[in-house]
Amino acid sequence: MRKRIRKILVTGGAGFIGSEFVRQGVKKGYSIIVVDKLTYAGDTARLKSVWGNITFYKTDICERKKIHAIFKKELPETVIHFAAETHVDRSIQNAQPFIKTNVEGTQNLIDLAREFKVKKFIHISTDEIYGESRTGYFKENDPLGAKNPYSSTKAAGELLIKAAIHTFQFPAIIIRPANNYGPWQYPEKLIPVIVVKAGNNIKVPVYGKGEQVREWLHVSDCASAVDAILRKGKAGDIYNIGSYYEQENIKTVKMILDQLKKPHTLIEFVKDRPGHDFRYSVDCAKLHKLGWKAKIDFSIGLKETIVWYTEHPSWLKHKLAFLKKYWQKVYAKK
Ligand SMILES: NC(=O)c1ccc[n+]([C@@H]2O[C@H](COP(=O)([O-])OP(=O)(O)OC[C@H]3O[C@@H](n4cnc5c(N)ncnc54)[C@H](O)[C@@H]3O)[C@@H](O)[C@H]2O)c1
Repeated sequence: MRKRIRKILVTGGAGFIGSEFVRQGVKKGYSIIVVDKLTYAGDTARLKSVWGNITFYKTDICERKKIHAIFKKELPETVIHFAAETHVDRSIQNAQPFIKTNVEGTQNLIDLAREFKVKKFIHISTDEIYGESRTGYFKENDPLGAKNPYSSTKAAGELLIKAAIHTFQFPAIIIRPANNYGPWQYPEKLIPVIVVKAGNNIKVPVYGKGEQVREWLHVSDCASAVDAILRKGKAGDIYNIGSYYEQENIKTVKMILDQLKKPHTLIEFVKDRPGHDFRYSVDCAKLHKLGWKAKIDFSIGLKETIVWYTEHPSWLKHKLAFLKKYWQKVYAKK
């Protein structure tokens, strides 16, 4: 019989992955409270389909008094902490918001979850905390080797969680997903940048020679893995989430152009991201033992994602003016 899950407080639930978890969770009958600051990356449009079934607070996890009041009012049994500043390029331009949210915000949640005796705390980290590796797959007990400002703040957040587990027997689980893709992803990450730019006949930027390798995990698979870990994971443990599907970025870009029937001449090789990690890849044997496996084949998931973007022009429309300025700043000609 399914164990009843009562109140779950989801931070970052208006973000790309958090909102997918919320949409799936509502279908499963979970009672969900979303706390989200609604930064440029957050958007309640992602929650439209479940709006009547959730409680939503537009609040910054760094505003301790406000978060305290939410914990006091809602008394969640479980916290799932997705909220973060998430984009590597932005962290290279300015690491401060990353330190604030990913480190200080995480400690606030640890303190409040302890004060209000939360039974389970799921901390969403990232595969990037391992750093890069040319070969093999990172296992959960491999050392942290974060190499960019984003992943370093995520590693710092994890270390604070580990410290709470060790010092206070804090009932936390750490999750490290691979690169996610799918509908509703903000067009600053590789796949939606290419889809949106190519769709508008704008040159598509590829860092360096496009040789970097990424492991691709569909957001729906990622959310279902978080749910499996929520139900069956062991407090104090760490779980990787991956698909074992990896490929060079240039191949991913060409797959997108081919589906959109756009010429490869749209590709523009731009100055590489400073300190660009070459490859991430995770071992998922531990998660597979819980009975979870990624279901969505990359070529099918990618096709459906491209179709989703072409069918949701209005979601992108008001973001495009802002994005054009951002793209100019971040993709410099070689
Ligand atoms: N997207 C990926 O490929 C990926 C891979 C591995 C791990 N992760 C991790 O998964 C989590 C979710 O990633 P995502 O891609 O959905 O991110 P996202 O950028 O789409 O969403 C982040 C959400 O957090 C909210 N937020 C940011 N700062 C906040 C604050 N101070 N207080 C409250 N809310 C705040 C934003 O408004 C947004 O809704 C993050 O912790 C990220 O590090 C992401």
